[in-house]
Amino acid sequence: MKKLNQRLFVLSCSALLILCYVNSGCNKDEKQKQVTENKTDSIKSENLTNSSVDSPGKQLFYMKSNQNNIACADCHSDGTNTGKGLTKYFSGIAGADKRVSAYHGRFTGEEVAKNAGGATVCWESYLKMKTPMTEEQIKSLNDFYSSLATNNSPSEVKYETISLPVKDKAKLKTEQNAVMKLTGDASKGETTFNNACGFCHGQNSTIKKIPDLFDEFEGNVKSITYNVRFGDGAMPFFKNSVLSEQDIADISAYIMKKNGK
Ligand code: HEC
Ligand code: HEC
Repeated sequence: MKKLNQRLFVLSCSALLILCYVNSGCNKDEKQKQVTENKTDSIKSENLTNSSVDSPGKQLFYMKSNQNNIACADCHSDGTNTGKGLTKYFSGIAGADKRVSAYHGRFTGEEVAKNAGGATVCWESYLKMKTPMTEEQIKSLNDFYSSLATNNSPSEVKYETISLPVKDKAKLKTEQNAVMKLTGDASKGETTFNNACGFCHGQNSTIKKIPDLFDEFEGNVKSITYNVRFGDGAMPFFKNSVLSEQDIADISAYIMKKNGK
């Protein structure tokens, strides 16, 4: 334990020195955040490669928001973090700066790169950042996406959602009715819940500002379907291809059971 502590100490000191040298303009808060990130990253990357400092884009991708403790890397994959449960529900980022359209057609042409492939939306809605992403941060993310691109990187990520470009209330109603007609399996729902929702709503969640779904929960199948399909604040929407109507029915059965309803 003592040895490990010493090692962590030495690692974090060297990370701090390198960071201060590379990023001499950074303010104190930024520096603190980057050092925390870098400590874990440098321990990991030590075994894989010999690089001791990650690119600014990669650091930003792994940085936990000081608002709610969520990072881009919690939801999206850069190819190395697929072990994180949520990454299979949302699109990957390789080559995202060069896509012809992003965020379900919200950005096209030049706007794609100007918005870091659409990440400027995620920055404000999911990371809850108070100030817009800077030009420098946008550029660093674009460089990171580029560094991951292969010949197979998609020129556009296509998916169906009733949440974009605007929340389609009529389609939601149809879907709510369909989900309510299904019989949910609470035990399947528990597994799906742990995979898709537990990261934020689970007992071991480290995410801040999350409502408790198991204590005095006033919702029902209808409101759960609303949240899952539209998202809400820092909660992302889940498209049809990753969570079916039966999955929502199962999750709802589980939540209701836990609430004694
Ligand atoms: C809470 C989960 C979550 C977080 C955190 C998050 N995103 Fe997203 N992001 C989404 C969802 C949902 C979409 C739209 C659906 C999809 O792409 O699967 C999306 C879309 C995107 C897209 C557009 C994909 C395309 O081509 O249409 C990019 C690029 C992206 N995010 C990057 C980022 C970056 C960079 C960060 C960190 C600043 C970030 N996201 C944080 C959930 C998240
Ligand atoms: C990235 C974190 C995150 C994930 C993943 C997530 N949620 Fe949420 N959820 C939130 C946040 C934050 C809110 C509160 C939104 C607000 O009020 O601004 C919320 C709100 C809710 C609510 C409304 C609660 C209430 O009392 O009104 C329900 C229901 C819900 N989530 C269900 C789910 C289900 C089901 C899943 C999985 C399919 C899920 N959430 C996945 C973050 C998340």
